[in-house]
Amino acid sequence: MKSVERLGFIGAGNMTQAVLSGLSQAEYKMDSVLVSNRSPQKLEALKESFGIQKAKSNEEVVDQSDIVFLAMKPHDLKELLPGLGKSFISSQYIVSFAAGVAMEDLSEELPLCKNIFRVIPSSPNTLGMGVVGFYAHPEALAVVKEIVKNRIQSLGHLIEVESEEQLDALMVGTSSGVGFVYEFMQIWQEWLEDKGFSVRESQNMTIETFLGAAQLAFKSDKNFVDLQNQVATKKGVTAEALESMRSMDLDRVLRVAFESGLLKNKKL
Ligand SMILES: NC(=O)c1ccc[n+]([C@@H]2O[C@H](COP(=O)([O-])OP(=O)(O)OC[C@H]3O[C@@H](n4cnc5c(N)ncnc54)[C@H](OP(=O)(O)O)[C@@H]3O)[C@@H](O)[C@H]2O)c1
Repeated sequence: MKSVERLGFIGAGNMTQAVLSGLSQAEYKMDSVLVSNRSPQKLEALKESFGIQKAKSNEEVVDQSDIVFLAMKPHDLKELLPGLGKSFISSQYIVSFAAGVAMEDLSEELPLCKNIFRVIPSSPNTLGMGVVGFYAHPEALAVVKEIVKNRIQSLGHLIEVESEEQLDALMVGTSSGVGFVYEFMQIWQEWLEDKGFSVRESQNMTIETFLGAAQLAFKSDKNFVDLQNQVATKKGVTAEALESMRSMDLDRVLRVAFESGLLKNKKL
């Protein structure tokens, strides 16, 4: 291996771009970063944006890097590892972004490595926002864990979990969760459109409402119930609508949906 800490990325998609963006803002030495990708276009774009080095192959990334980010879709990773896994050596750190690939599977394919980390991103990470899930191999070294966390910290709010069950729940709640929020936003927008607002007005009002509520909660030390009580005066409009939602078991609908996401993840 050529340098003290060389970062390598297999996959030049959204998540790699998000990590590179954070590293670049932290003035990391970008020309020491090596990236490979299946198709050439994204690689060229990353070279232009960040000044990274393009690798000729995935093997070159594995051969030349101290920390290897596996930043591809789960099915692509599952196809790649049986051929490439044995090239990794014990001193390397591996960071997998693939939600559907468990630590046991990674360990099996990377038999020499203990410093393996699973990271669950969410789409707001491309803006440096949202939650990032982090789970370390039980035998990973504490010092290595801190190095890896440091390299991905710009992605968003990092939550380390102690078990993969928790990581799966985090994935449903915060990564799939972004998709669930959009489901609500779509319903909000359509209702406003039904009441005569234009598509643009309805979308903007919806975004501002969610953004405002989230920012208010973020900046406040009150819990959600207290914040809700500030809006919902007894026997008023908000209280009436909330009562209607609760009478139709919104809570149960959402919990069943979350659990079905968890079940699907187990079957992947
Ligand atoms: N983006 C998100 O918001 C988000 C949220 C939650 C979880 N994740 C997870 O994070 C991981 C990365 O997501 P992403 O959004 O960055 O994916 P992405 O934009 O689709 O990027 C994946 C990249 O991997 C490349 N690739 C696939 N197979 C390859 C191979 N064998 N060798 C080299 N490169 C290969 C693809 O190349 P091509 O140019 O050929 O497509 C593509 O550029 C995924 O596991 C995803 O499920 C992402």
